[in-house]
Amino acid sequence: MRTTLADIQQMKASGERIAMLTAYDFPSAKIAERAGAPVLLVGDSLGMVVLGHDTTLPVSLDDMVRHASAVMRGSRKALIVCDLPFLTYASEADAVAAARRVMQETGVQAVKLEGGAPIIPIVKRLTDLGVPVMGHLGFTPQSQNQLGVKVQARQAAAARQLINDALALEAAGAFAVVLELVPAPLAEAVTARLRIPAIGIGAGAGCDGQVQVWHDLLGLYDAKPHRHAKRYAEIGDAIETALRSYVDEVRSGAFPTKSNSSTMEAAELAAALEVDPLPLI
Ligand code: KIV
Repeated sequence: MRTTLADIQQMKASGERIAMLTAYDFPSAKIAERAGAPVLLVGDSLGMVVLGHDTTLPVSLDDMVRHASAVMRGSRKALIVCDLPFLTYASEADAVAAARRVMQETGVQAVKLEGGAPIIPIVKRLTDLGVPVMGHLGFTPQSQNQLGVKVQARQAAAARQLINDALALEAAGAFAVVLELVPAPLAEAVTARLRIPAIGIGAGAGCDGQVQVWHDLLGLYDAKPHRHAKRYAEIGDAIETALRSYVDEVRSGAFPTKSNSSTMEAAELAAALEVDPLPLI
């Protein structure tokens, strides 16, 4: 049985912090779930950390469907949320079609949409139709050409707008909201005003939970980690060391050994080669 929306609502009510992280494929979903994450996000950050684009903008619905399907196959218990990519929810009809695709073709339980006031009618339409929606405010990477990659809502007017957007998302039926690159005191104030969980990334410790990108946590992306990310391991270095050993051993002939190989009856080989049998080593 997977984590439900009611479960994470209950986590907020009881003060149990929600540890969410991204997953993009079968192994990452399996490992994240084994580590105890109750919510996994198939983020469109996969455009950058998996597909090598500079931004999330080139990510397509096909990309999301392929990766979300793999995450579903790799997990049994987590609530799986899938980002709708750039401009796939520009109208209510587009949003319904995009949500239909990801939910029907992958089985994910919820979608995430970026933005505030302009997308409230779209969020309302989706939730009226039974689509669980997670909002995303503050720095919204799909609008990075307008916003710049920086902390948002430092000034009173923008901060007030962000509070209103969060409340409007809740009123439109969103079940949770991500707050990205928002000043910590503002994120804490928003979290306190919301009945639904607020999940922070670069938004301080006052949120109901945190979300981080798999590759940032594990040292798999970028020489320069984001300030808001904490590296819990240097897996990229560990992988490189392992692969270097493999390359060296192939070059030196140390790999493969007999134990990595199989053999066959000498007579069978001789018959195949039409020569006299030689003892196989
Ligand atoms: O795409 C993503 O990974 C996200 C998180 C950063 C919240 O939206």
